[in-house]
Amino acid sequence: MTAPIKNSNPVVLDVALGARAYDIVIGRDVLGSLGERIKAMRPGARIAIVTDATVAMHWLEKAEAALKGAGIESSRIVVGEGESSKSYAVLEEVCEALIAAKIERNDLVIALGGGVIGDLAGFAAAIVRRGVDFVQVPTSLLAQVDSSVGGKTGINSPHGKNLVGAFHQPILVVADTSVLDTLSPRQFRAGYAEVAKYGLLGDEAFFTWLESNHAGVFSGSAAREHAIATSCRAKAAIVSRDERETGERALLNLGHTFGHALEAATGFSDRLFHGEGVSIGMVLAAEFSAHLNMIAPSDAERVKRHLASVGLPTRMQDIAGFRQEGLADADALMALMAQDKKVKRGRLTFILLEKIGKAVIANDVDAPRVRNFIAEKLSQQPGR
Ligand code: GLY
Repeated sequence: MTAPIKNSNPVVLDVALGARAYDIVIGRDVLGSLGERIKAMRPGARIAIVTDATVAMHWLEKAEAALKGAGIESSRIVVGEGESSKSYAVLEEVCEALIAAKIERNDLVIALGGGVIGDLAGFAAAIVRRGVDFVQVPTSLLAQVDSSVGGKTGINSPHGKNLVGAFHQPILVVADTSVLDTLSPRQFRAGYAEVAKYGLLGDEAFFTWLESNHAGVFSGSAAREHAIATSCRAKAAIVSRDERETGERALLNLGHTFGHALEAATGFSDRLFHGEGVSIGMVLAAEFSAHLNMIAPSDAERVKRHLASVGLPTRMQDIAGFRQEGLADADALMALMAQDKKVKRGRLTFILLEKIGKAVIANDVDAPRVRNFIAEKLSQQPGR
């Protein structure tokens, strides 16, 4: 792990993808530089900003002013907030609005928002006129450390999350860490789960640093920029080696197989934010790794303790109404996991821990063993 950032605002990281390489610019108030950065890259381009109503209220005028300051006029496309906007209907709305705004091949789409906006606007950019470039301006912690980097774009299908989409890399990511000040504590915590994920999957020193410095990440000190830059650096390195997830990029799914099943069980609703599902999922992955004697039970406890210390849920029983609604059912959760990741002849692929700071892809996990483990976890009483 690199040393914490001191007075080096902004940090610029490179996602090394050859002809599709791009910068991630991270720092307080970097949104103000958006226009100049875009002008330098794409002089004369027409710009459409895709955002949602809440982000528009806080940040749209600032983004537009930054563009205007560089002499760039832009149009705006504002969609409804939340996961339900990752739909065919809203995708159509955005594509039609981009075409109506006369966005052509050499123009640019700006995704101004959290993960939903980045995925939706990025996918619209990927398919309108067979591909228009786009810029990610992530406004949630989750989007800044994960979804804005790496080019995964898409919408949900009635069959499941992210089932329709494209790899479409942005040409620039501008992550202004001061915009995170308007996030609710719950949203910030949910994004923090993905930050902790980078420590768990590949950098024990970063996980140890987070255990001591998480308060600074939450309060917005230089620790926040350091945590975001370290996360983005880790993601950029993995993506540049395995853009299309034929191998190690799957490590970024640590906690996601369990997490997606829990999100599906709760109807992809606000009852469980994606990052909260990932938090519970990472604890389950660590506990299952201990169950398989891959790590010590004390390591799994350490994962749980840290996530709980920032107020994240760590157990399935932490989800409101989980038991009462009959969701605490190992077979139902197995069926949801099978949909997410496909069980092949009773075997499942999981991301497990070999130690804190080293995740591995386990391709051949025995499904009945997972089922029994989940059943055991569900039978535990509160406080365990
Ligand atoms: N969020 C996982 C990935 O980008 O691969």
